[in-house]
Amino acid sequence: MSSKIGSDSQIAREALQQGKLVAIPTETVYGLAANAYDEKAVTGIFLAKNRPSFNPLILHVYDVDQAQSFTGEWPQAAVKLAKTFWPGPLTLLLPRDATIVPDLVTAGSPLVAVRVPAHPVTRELLKMLDFPLAAPSANPSGYISPTTAQHVHQQLGDKVSYILEGGQATVGIESTIIGFDQDGNPLLYRLGGLSLSSIEDCVGPLRTARDEHHKPATPGRLARHYAPETAFILGSREALQQRKIDISEKVAILAFEKPWPNIPNEHQRVLSLTGDTAEAARNLFRMMRELDALGLSLILAEEAPQEGLGPAINDRLFRASYDTREM
Ligand code: TXA
Ligand code: MG
Repeated sequence: MSSKIGSDSQIAREALQQGKLVAIPTETVYGLAANAYDEKAVTGIFLAKNRPSFNPLILHVYDVDQAQSFTGEWPQAAVKLAKTFWPGPLTLLLPRDATIVPDLVTAGSPLVAVRVPAHPVTRELLKMLDFPLAAPSANPSGYISPTTAQHVHQQLGDKVSYILEGGQATVGIESTIIGFDQDGNPLLYRLGGLSLSSIEDCVGPLRTARDEHHKPATPGRLARHYAPETAFILGSREALQQRKIDISEKVAILAFEKPWPNIPNEHQRVLSLTGDTAEAARNLFRMMRELDALGLSLILAEEAPQEGLGPAINDRLFRASYDTREM
């Protein structure tokens, strides 16, 4: 194993203090972290990922107190959500204190995205630092997010100074992003690892945020995203089977619950044999990578049911299928 992967939080701390990039485990996906108050270090994140500078970053903090040190007044619903779900797979868009948070981090927006991650390794690191960590998912822009240290090493190994080992991510998809309207009502910006029903149980009905072109309002939500190299087609099992694609050895299957007959086992993955959407989310990105690595001509992916984390899974699958969609 590369000496760059390890569990020494002191090495991680020193590298971050020196303005270097460190990959950190979180319960959602691995992040590519830098000192959020060091503009040069943050620039390094954009360069390493080849990320457009209009796409802002999430700040990771140890607790609510630290989040309050660089944000303005919080809507009531934000206080309640933070109390209920932090640490956890939830990001909140809060008013930024522009005297502290650099423009680069928020791409000039008056809002800053903040999250308190739950992974014990990263919590230990955050506790030792006196600055928040700016961290997008640790993948090249547009590719599948990493859920293991090895995934990070394969794609960004030469761009980071250290990869903090945290095992397989337990949630497996990125955090749910919630912002607020003028009246403090919660708005959904990105589906993710915290289900909509848990959020609605806490703060009531959620509307989806839209920009002035009626598109989803989060700048990083590009139509093509999470995209494997292999052509990727999404549909219900019936719709996929009706496509009459020659199901020879060239096709890989990402099934939701039941394996496909007549497809060799090594060419398929099943997201959850019990149909559990949380387990499916945990397996999603690893299985997408494994099927992509087979180098076949096509991946057929089955839609998840619209319950639990199903909508968030389908959101990722939909963006992965962008190039093959009939527009
Ligand atoms: O689970 C996660 O959220 C992971 C882990 C590492 O924490 N991070 C993550 O970061 O998914 P990233 O950069 O891959 O996605 C962050 C999303 C982007 O779509 C970005 O546009 C949006 O958050 N975002 C960040 N700051 C924002 C802001 N101020 N206003 C609106 N959207 C923002
Ligand atoms: Mg990402």
